[in-house]
Amino acid sequence: MQDQLSALLAKAAVELPTLQTRPEFEAAKARYVGPNGELTALMKQMGAVPKEQRPVVGKLINETKTQLQSQLDAALTRIGDAELAAQLGPAVDATLPSPDCGPGTHHPLTLVREEMCRILRKVGFTVADGPEVETEYYCFDALNTPSDHPARDEKDTFYFPESARFGNVSKKIPEEKYLLRTHTSSVQIRSMLKGPPPIRIVSPGRVYRRDTTDATHSANFHQLECLYVDKNVTVRDLKALLDYIFASLLGKDTKTRFRPHYFGYTEPSFEVDLTATHLPKVKKPWIEIGGCGMVDPTVFEAVGYDPEIWTGYAFGMGLERLAMLLYGIDDIRYFYQNDLRFLRQFA
Ligand code: DAH
Repeated sequence: MQDQLSALLAKAAVELPTLQTRPEFEAAKARYVGPNGELTALMKQMGAVPKEQRPVVGKLINETKTQLQSQLDAALTRIGDAELAAQLGPAVDATLPSPDCGPGTHHPLTLVREEMCRILRKVGFTVADGPEVETEYYCFDALNTPSDHPARDEKDTFYFPESARFGNVSKKIPEEKYLLRTHTSSVQIRSMLKGPPPIRIVSPGRVYRRDTTDATHSANFHQLECLYVDKNVTVRDLKALLDYIFASLLGKDTKTRFRPHYFGYTEPSFEVDLTATHLPKVKKPWIEIGGCGMVDPTVFEAVGYDPEIWTGYAFGMGLERLAMLLYGIDDIRYFYQNDLRFLRQFA
């Protein structure tokens, strides 16, 4: 019996270190210590061992069992380590200098944003900023958006829990909720509350909506908002400005048209389409680019401007849409993937 036990251990010591995979290991384990395994078979012979030798043989069997188990454990650890190493791939030396990736380039959205701001600065607009974490008042209430308007729905807007605190974002109404702004129109309100007209601002920035991502939608994207408030501002001025900025950005053959629409903060309101078939990849004759209109008197009242004296126009548009047109990009997701093959194309 003693010889058989040492022969079994010697065999295992040769075989177990050669196992490569988990199935191989399981099969070997069954052969040694499974119900029909070799050790089990030897243990069954205990009955035939004379009584006085049983304590010695029993001890031997137990020792063999312990040693076999530690050989099996070692084999399993080795197989597990090899699996992990295969998943991790070749070792990386983090202390080596990185390959020189050369100077960076501007992101296409930055290029379009800066170009639009430059075009608008030329005609007297200044850049205004506002927080991305907003409150219902600036994003909806002051913009004459009724409390049951679908844009305010939890399905469409990211709200923060009641417990959230943003000390640096001013609240107009103590019990109102914080949210991620759904449009840059909130900056209109913040700018008007800062002082009296005339006002001429452009405000580019990031906005958030509960949209499912696809080739033309993203849960966060960028808009560019403009507001002009003065005496005797007319729809003609609005149309002239839009014609000017789109011709400047996309080429002089770019034309715009207005379609009647409804926004709570403008009256009348329009959707703006442009035609830019001279651009590569632009097939559709008219492309919707944004919304606009004449500032609604209710909005002026909300910020303490006298609607009998002041008039104004406002518009907002998506920056991604503009960049896609300008550069012939057909999928919005390229903007956010940080793929150098894409980014390097924009010097
Ligand atoms: N806020 C609108 C949107 O996100 C766009 C817009 C429409 C902005 C009309 C305006 C406006 O300033 O007057 O779709």
